Amino acid sequence: MRSYAREEEPHSNRDDFANLKRLSPYVWRYSKRVALAVACLLLAKLATVCIPLVLKGIIDSLDAAALTENIVLVAPMALLLAYGALRLAGGIFNELRDILFARVRYSAMHQMSVDVLEHLHRLSLRFHLERNTGGISRDLERGTRSLASVLNLLVFSILPTFAEFILVAAILLARYDWELMAVIIITVAVYVIFTLLISKWRMGFRHAMNKYDSAANGRAVDSLLNYETVKYFNNEEMERDYYHAKLDEWREAGLKTQISLSALNFGQGAIVTTGVTVIMILSAKEVAAGNITIGDLVLINALMLQLFIPLSILGSVYRQLQYSLADMDLVIKLLDKPPEIIDVENAPPLELKKGKVRFRNVSFHYNDNRKILEQVDFEIPAGQKLAVVGPSGSGKSTLVRLLFRFYEVTDGSIEIDDQSIAECTQQSLRRMIGIVPQDTVLFNDTIRYNIAYAKTDATDEEVIDAAHSADLSELLSRLPEGLDTVVGERGLKLSGGEKQRLAISRVILKAPGIIVFDEATSSLDSQSERAILGALNKASSNATSMVIAHRLSTVVDADNIVVMDDGKIVESGNHAELLKKQGLYHRLWEMQQSDEQDLG
Ligand SMILES: Nc1ncnc2c1ncn2[C@@H]1O[C@H](COP(=O)(O)OP(=O)(O)OP(=O)(O)O)[C@@H](O)[C@H]1O
Ligand SMILES: [Mg+2]
Repeated sequence: MRSYAREEEPHSNRDDFANLKRLSPYVWRYSKRVALAVACLLLAKLATVCIPLVLKGIIDSLDAAALTENIVLVAPMALLLAYGALRLAGGIFNELRDILFARVRYSAMHQMSVDVLEHLHRLSLRFHLERNTGGISRDLERGTRSLASVLNLLVFSILPTFAEFILVAAILLARYDWELMAVIIITVAVYVIFTLLISKWRMGFRHAMNKYDSAANGRAVDSLLNYETVKYFNNEEMERDYYHAKLDEWREAGLKTQISLSALNFGQGAIVTTGVTVIMILSAKEVAAGNITIGDLVLINALMLQLFIPLSILGSVYRQLQYSLADMDLVIKLLDKPPEIIDVENAPPLELKKGKVRFRNVSFHYNDNRKILEQVDFEIPAGQKLAVVGPSGSGKSTLVRLLFRFYEVTDGSIEIDDQSIAECTQQSLRRMIGIVPQDTVLFNDTIRYNIAYAKTDATDEEVIDAAHSADLSELLSRLPEGLDTVVGERGLKLSGGEKQRLAISRVILKAPGIIVFDEATSSLDSQSERAILGALNKASSNATSMVIAHRLSTVVDADNIVVMDDGKIVESGNHAELLKKQGLYHRLWEMQQSDEQDLG
C-alpha cells in the first residue's frame, strides 16, 4: 500500500456536494455515454442477481424430477443453459460498462489537467515563488487523480453495490415475508455503520504510520546526502538513533493498523454471520412448514452472500473517497484562486511606435511591511540606452519585473510610447520586450530548442545566425552534437557564461523593440565580455535598451545612467557628469578601478 502512502490527513472543512457539482460539467459533456454505461451496469447487476434465481429453479426442478423419477430433464436443461447465459451476460455488460466509461474518465482527466496547467500559468509570479516544485507537480496530479478516482469509486464500487442492494431487496420483498427483509436491512445497516466508524478510527493509525515513515526516511536520505558532513562531525550514532526512534513509532502504529484491521474484518464477519444465521433459521422454518422450497433456501443464502461481498470493501472505499474528495477540494480552491494580474476589460494591445519607456513616480513593495521602490522616475527616449547601477538589493531587478508586469506597481505608472502598460494586454506588452535575465534557467532540451524558444517558428538559419551573433559558434563547434546537445535539467550542463550567451541569442532572435539586460555579462571573463558587448550593442542598435550592470566599465557609453540606492534614484546623468558629482557613482567607480588595477 506504499503507493497510497500520504502524509497529510484529508482536511475536513469542505463542501463535497458543491465541489462535485462544480466538477460535474467535466462529466456531463458525455451524458449519453454515462447513461449507457450506467445502463450496462444495471444490466450486469440484473444478470448476476438473476443467477441465484435460476439456481433455485434448477434445484427445485431436480428435486421434483427426483421425486417423480421423471427421466426427461428438459426443464432443468433449459435452466442450466440460462444459468450459463446469465453469467456470460453479467461479464459482458461489466466489460461494456468499463469500455464506455473509459472515454468519459480519460476525457475528464485530460480536460481537467489542461485546465489546471492553464490556470497555473495564469497565476502570478508571486504565487509561484511562494511554493516549491513538489507542491506544483502535486497540484497537477491532484487535478487528474481526484476526479478520476471519485468517478471510479462511484461507478465501480458505490453505484453497483447500491443497485445490487435494491435489486436483491426487490426480489426478496416480492417473493418472501417482510420479516426476512427487515433482518437483512438491519444487518446491512449495522454492517455499514460499524464499517464506517471503524474505518474512520483506523485512518488515524495509517496517518501516524505514514508520518513516521516519511520522517524516518527523509532524515535517513538527508544524512546520506550529507555523508561527508556526518563524518566530519562524527554524528553517525545520532543519525542512527533518530532513525531508530522514528521506526519504533512507525512499528507501533503499524501494529495498531494491523490489529484494527483484524478487528474490522472480524466484526464484519460476525455481523454477516449473525444476520445470515438468523435468516437461515427463519427460512428453514418456512421450508419445514412447507411454505417455501429448498431452492428458496439456496436462493436466499446466495443473495445474501452476493450482497455482502461488495460491502466488505466499504472500508477502503470510504478511505479512498475521503482522500479523493479532499484532493478535489484543493484543486477547486486552486482553480478558483484569481490571478493577480488581469487585463482590464477590452484592453487594447500595446502599440509600439518608437519605443519610449517612462517610469512615472513608481513606488512598489512586494509585502506591505517593506518598501522596495520609492518614487522612481526616469525616461528612456526611443532608441537610447539607459544604464541602472547600484548596490545589490537596491531594486534593479525589481524594475524589470515591473516593466514585464509580473507585479502591479503600488503607486505611479509605467508607460511605453505614452500608453500605460496596466491598460494594455499582457501578451502585447511582453511580445515587445526582450530580456537577458540575471540567472538564465533553461529547458531540459536541446540548445536548438532553447534558442528557438524565443521564436518558435524560427528557421534553422535564423537559429544558427542568432547563436553566431551571441558568440556561441565556438562552443557549438566543440560539442559533438552541436545544436542538438541536451542542456540538462535547468541547463546545468552549460556554464554560467554559456547560458548567458544562449539568453543573448534568444533576444537576438526575438528582435524586440525594447531590450533589458540584467547583469547580462556578469558571468563572463573580461575577454568574452568585450566580445559579447559588441553583440549586445548590435542587437540593441535599433532598440531602446535598459542595462543593469555591476561592472561600471560596461556602461560608460550609456546615454544616461541612473544610480539606485535602497529603492531610490540617488544620482543620474552620463558617465562624465556623474564622475564630476563626486557622489556614490564616483565612489563605486574608484573602487572598481583600483580593483582592476590590483588584478592587473
Ligand atoms: N518576491 C519577493 N518578495 C519579497 N521581497 C523580494 C522579492 N524579490 C526581491 N525582493 C527584495 O527586494 C529587494 C530588491 O531586489 P532586487 O532583485 O530588485 O535587487 P537588485 O538590485 O536586482 O539586486 P542584485 O544586484 O543583487 O541583483 C531585495 O532586498 C530583495 O530581498
Ligand atoms: Mg538583480
